[in-house]
Amino acid sequence: MPQTPVSGIREIIDVLRGETGFIYTARARELAKKGFKVVNFGVGQPDLPTPRHIVEEAKKALDAGLTGYTEVAGIPELRQAVAEYLNERYGSDVRSEEVIVTPGAKAALFLAFAAYIRPGDEVIIPDPSYYMYPEVTKFLGGKPVYVPLKWRGDEEGFELDARALENAVSEKTRAIVVNNPHNPTGAVFSYREIEKVFEVAKERNLVVIVDEIYDNFVYEGGFKSFMSISEWRDYIVYANGFSKTFSMTGWRLGYLVVRREVASKLTKLAVNIWTCAPSFAQKAGVVALKGSWEPVKEMIELYKRRRDTMFKELRKIKGIEVWKSRGAFYLYPNIKNLLEKLNMNVETLAEKLLNEKHVVILPGTVFSESEMGKNYIRLSFALDEKLIVEGINRMKEFVEEKLHNCK
Ligand SMILES: Cc1ncc(COP(=O)(O)O)c(C=O)c1O
Repeated sequence: MPQTPVSGIREIIDVLRGETGFIYTARARELAKKGFKVVNFGVGQPDLPTPRHIVEEAKKALDAGLTGYTEVAGIPELRQAVAEYLNERYGSDVRSEEVIVTPGAKAALFLAFAAYIRPGDEVIIPDPSYYMYPEVTKFLGGKPVYVPLKWRGDEEGFELDARALENAVSEKTRAIVVNNPHNPTGAVFSYREIEKVFEVAKERNLVVIVDEIYDNFVYEGGFKSFMSISEWRDYIVYANGFSKTFSMTGWRLGYLVVRREVASKLTKLAVNIWTCAPSFAQKAGVVALKGSWEPVKEMIELYKRRRDTMFKELRKIKGIEVWKSRGAFYLYPNIKNLLEKLNMNVETLAEKLLNEKHVVILPGTVFSESEMGKNYIRLSFALDEKLIVEGINRMKEFVEEKLHNCK
């Protein structure tokens, strides 16, 4: 019997969840093409262009013929620049041999999971979380074990719960994933909880897979990087990148930091998948880290104002409980009461808002397989303030119309 060309695909591929944000964005694009003015709160990328001096450096690199493969782990200048950045910023002692440059932080995270997770291993993941951690865990035959973030009320918001993470550790646990500042809640975790998680990893001999891609998006309070812990080398695999900080999502540039023996082994996996990150993007990455940080500072100030505006506007909608996040570029309101009043689930709400008001929001279920996701939505404030106001107004209108019809 001739086989169909797709027979034999691994079952796990069928059950992997993709990035719902991209699906909504594609739908938003379709609507925009038809002439509708869409307000997209679903985006996970800065709206500003990459700073000029970084773009110019990439152009220069292309003109100079830097268009071939580079070293698998990245050009030496960039590995050095990453090490210096982390050392200056977090008082760390990273060496350039411990840095692997990757096509985006996602690729760095994939390396981290692939390095440590074997079939049957349990991976502790805070709930809610960025969707890729459980998916990659499952892909590798591991099992995600979810531990809810702690809710500390309207003032303090979400917090990592190191004790609950510790209680979830079993004989099979191999890793704990910590993303800080946190997508989707916008929380920036306290020094105390970060240190405690590190202690748990040390006592139970676990690896902490760290994702600090939003490390520059902190609007108030302090930020404790895992790279500031002197013994990071023994327990931490660290991912970060250029996508968010420098508005470079399409450039595909990120990095993994891990102790030298592991780094040199992981380059063998990297060469089997992507060979190297884009050459000219790497050259530009050096200038991003070593050149002027003024555009980044201005962006963070701008985002802080946008967050305040979105927060203020959202509070005008009855039934939405919103906490003012301190990091990343998201608000993560609880809309349980509203959903009950509307007699709708969160996915239907997202669907109707898109179809009827052309506003994209992401349902909490994108970030959580548990009950938690059903009561929340994520809104990105990486868009113009006027659009933020308009989008929230349309949401308010939608809610009022529906409630009126429910009467
Ligand atoms: C928490 C988190 N980690 C990693 C990434 C991926 O970043 P990159 O574009 O560098 O692959 C994202 C992107 O949305 C993210 O939110």
